[in-house]
Formats: sequence, C-alpha cells, structure tokens
Amino acid sequence: MGVTATNREPEFQVDRLFLDRWSPRAYSPEPIPHATLMTLFEAARWAPSCFNEQPWYFLYATEESGLQKMRAILVEKNRQWASQAPVLVLVCSHKFFKHNNQPNRWGAFDAGSAWMSLALQASMLGLYAHGMGGFDLDAAYRTLDLNREKIDIHAAAAIGRMGDPKLLPEDLAAREGPSSRKPLAEMVRVIS
Ligand SMILES: Cc1cc2nc3c(=O)[nH]c(=O)nc-3n(C[C@H](O)[C@H](O)[C@H](O)COP(=O)(O)O)c2cc1C
Repeated sequence: MGVTATNREPEFQVDRLFLDRWSPRAYSPEPIPHATLMTLFEAARWAPSCFNEQPWYFLYATEESGLQKMRAILVEKNRQWASQAPVLVLVCSHKFFKHNNQPNRWGAFDAGSAWMSLALQASMLGLYAHGMGGFDLDAAYRTLDLNREKIDIHAAAAIGRMGDPKLLPEDLAAREGPSSRKPLAEMVRVIS
C-alpha cells in the first residue's frame, strides 16, 4: 500500500487525489493484474482531446522480453530504479489527424492529459506511475519499431506498487518522497 503525501500543503482547498499522486523510485516487482493495468489505460482513454482525436498511443511491457527492451532504452540513472517496476510504458501520440491527415499540434497536450488520467487512476488504486524523459529516443524508435514520421514518443513511465526505499542506491534513496511546488501566484496571472 502507498504512502499518503502528508507533507504536501495546498494553498487552497483541493482533493487529496492531486496531493497523494507522486513519483516514487522504489518499486516492488510484484506483478500488476492485467485487468488493473487495463483500468489505468481505460482512465487514459476517457481524456479530452482536440477534435476527440484521441491521438495517444501507449506501448506497455509486463513480460520479461518486453521489459528488457524497455529497460534497454532508459538512461542508466532511470534503469537503476525503474528495472524493478513490473510495468514499463511508452507514452506516444499520432502526429496527424485521421480525418484530414493534417499535423495535430495538440497531440502532446492530449497525450499529457491521458497520461495524467492514468497516473491519477493509478494513485486511486494505491499504485504509482512515474514518468521518465530520460531515455534514448532513437533507440526507442528503433527497438520498438515505431514510425518516426507518424508517431511522437513523449515519455516513458514505470508503473507498480511502492517498494522498499532502503533498497534504492543511496543518492536516490535520499531524494525519495513527495516533492513540493512553486507558489500558485507564480503559475497564474489574471487577464485584465
Ligand atoms: C515528462 C516527464 C519526464 C520525467 N522524467 C524523469 C526522469 O527521467 N527520471 C526521473 O526519475 N523522474 C522523471 N520525472 C518525474 C518528475 O521528476 C516528477 O514528476 C517531478 O519531480 C514532480 O514530482 P512528483 O511526480 O512526485 O509530484 C519525469 C516526469 C515527467 C512528467
């Protein structure tokens, strides 16, 4: 079971869901039931998108052969901890709208929404989803046989239950825990 991010103090009233989602590096290798994993993707499925295009596209690995491919594309620092996770995911989107074949410049925005739905659903189930930008993009396209002309790869992610932070390398163990945020006033401005 997870840890409630009790050190996170919102400036205004907000549902605990948003505070309790965080990105641990200590993962338990315990497998995630297939139906539970599909529940996470189901949450992503219902995200909003421009023209309801649903441009997001997720690749996931749960079996050793697929996990090895995913681990191989991660940068070493991420491989150190993410190799424990029972599920590794690649968050992608289609670059072009289906209805007119024009570039979809909102694809990254929409894939981000879908990813956040997945991460929040994970949190609601006591699971954790940790996004990763630290991977070899060229290797990802090559290894996973994705068409660079048509597919954007946005991020990788580790999904699973929280493990024992004491098993992490020392530097990572020292950083383990829910982080804070910059003040609300720095991220909003009224239009007058
Ligand atoms: C697109 C993206 C890329 C990230 N890349 C990495 C990464 O390569 N390695 C890592 O350990 N964490 C990575 N993170 C996790 C962030 O560092 C983390 O989300 C951020 O510090 C906020 O902490 P929280 O998720 O625990 O609230 C990434 C997160 C996102 C959304």
